[in-house]
Formats: sequence, C-alpha cells, structure tokens
Amino acid sequence: GVSSPAPEKDLGPTYRPAAEKPTATVSKEVPFENVHILPQTPQLIALLTMIRDRNTERGDFIFYSNRIIRLLVEEGLNHLPVVAHSVTTPVGKDYAGVKFQGKICGVSIMRAGESMEQGLRDCCRSVRIGKILIQRNESTCQPHLFYEKLPTDIADRWVLLLDPMFATGGSAMMAIEVLKAKGVPEDRILFLNIIASPEGVGNFSKKFPKVRVVTSFIDQGLNEKNYIVPGLGDFGDRFYTL
Ligand code: PRP
Ligand code: URA
Repeated sequence: GVSSPAPEKDLGPTYRPAAEKPTATVSKEVPFENVHILPQTPQLIALLTMIRDRNTERGDFIFYSNRIIRLLVEEGLNHLPVVAHSVTTPVGKDYAGVKFQGKICGVSIMRAGESMEQGLRDCCRSVRIGKILIQRNESTCQPHLFYEKLPTDIADRWVLLLDPMFATGGSAMMAIEVLKAKGVPEDRILFLNIIASPEGVGNFSKKFPKVRVVTSFIDQGLNEKNYIVPGLGDFGDRFYTL
C-alpha cells in the first residue's frame, strides 16, 4: 500500500470559525491531469461517511450512494463539449447559452457498475447503456471478461464508463481495452467512480493518460486482499445482496 498520511481538512460553513469546525479526512491528490476529484465539500464527506460505515444498512447504503453517484454524473457531464445556443425567453429577451453537442452512452462494469445506471438515466433521458461483465477472481484479483453488449454505434459516442470501485485498476483497464477495440478513442471516454486507490489511479493514468477519470475520493491504499482501505468493503454486496 501507499504510506503517505491522509490529508485532513476543516469542514463546515465559512461563517463558523475554524476552531468550531470538525476535521475530516479528505481525498488524496494525485499528479495526473486526467484525474478529476470532486470538491471535498461537507456534503460529499458526510455522504461518504455514511457509505463507509460498516453499520450502515442496505437501504441507507443505496440512498447515500445514489446521492454521490448523482454528483459524479453531474460533474462528468461538465466534461462533454457544448456549443453556443441562444434562446428567447417568455419576456421576449434573448439569452446566450449553450447546449450539449454529440451523442453519449453509458457502459456499466457489472455487477457493481450497474448501481450507477439510474443516476445516469436521471440526468440523460433515454440514454443508451451497454454492459461489460468483468469479475475479479477472488483469490488472484485478476479481472476476467465474461460478456459484453454495447451500442452498435459506440465508436461515434462519448462513453461514460461506470464502476464505483477502482482498486488495482485491472477491471477498469480491461473495460477500456474493450471500448478501444470497438473503436472508441481514449479521449472520448469518461470513467465515473466513487472510490479509487492511488495504485489503481496511477496504473490506469500511465496506461491511458487521455481517459478522463471523475472520482469522489482517492483513498489511502490497498490491503493484502486488494481491497481499498479504508474503503467501504464490497460495494456490490452492500448495494445488491447484503
Ligand atoms: C469489484 C468492483 C470493480 C473491481 C475493482 O468488482 O466493482 O469492478 O472489483 O477491482 P480492481 O480495480 O482491482 O479490478 P467485482 O469483480 O468484485 O464484482 P462485483 O461488481 O460483482 O462485486
Ligand atoms: N471491489 C470492492 O467492491 N471493494 C474493494 O475495496 C475492492 C474491489
């Protein structure tokens, strides 16, 4: 694992003096331009605190995960290109705005990535969603590709790749290889992720420096079983079956 200490930050509204604000552990920073970490706000840290807690039961885990997923999707969409678009308002005045340009689709890495599909649908009406089934072998931690079903015109789309956990990075890198083999250029892929390890982000960014990663948190490291620490345990189990 990685040993540098976790950064701490005072959190809370600006009208309160620092001495009255609690200190919380916030995301590590990483020296990769393709990696975008959500602002470490009191809201985000409180949501992450809920889903990291081993005592949080499944209903709450789903609810609070969904709120973080929504933040990731909203931030991910900011990385898509826009073109100028002016409209006339009901009071007869013009407003110089923008609109999204280009087609998108989602691709979830099953099973845990499927938990992020609804958040994407909530922001992008009738968005097409492809699936890649990659499972980590529980003893070797090596990813295995079992299945993929993707939109036929995926090479012409921006792809929002979905997986909440980014541990060794093996699963995400395998998914990128699948997308590249279908003709999707690296710079049209956005990987949306809840918690990453520094090792995973490092391996991934060296191999695919043009794939943008939008994550809510870079954690301390990996344990001997390649689980993220402090992490939140097995995301798929907590969201779907625990
Ligand atoms: C988990 C997680 C990622 C992967 C991360 O999935 O959802 O896909 O492991 O680990 P990595 O970065 O080391 O590859 P898992 O294979 O356990 O399957 P699940 O989604 O069914 O829980
Ligand atoms: N998959 C998970 O669900 N959690 C981890 O910490 C690592 C892989």
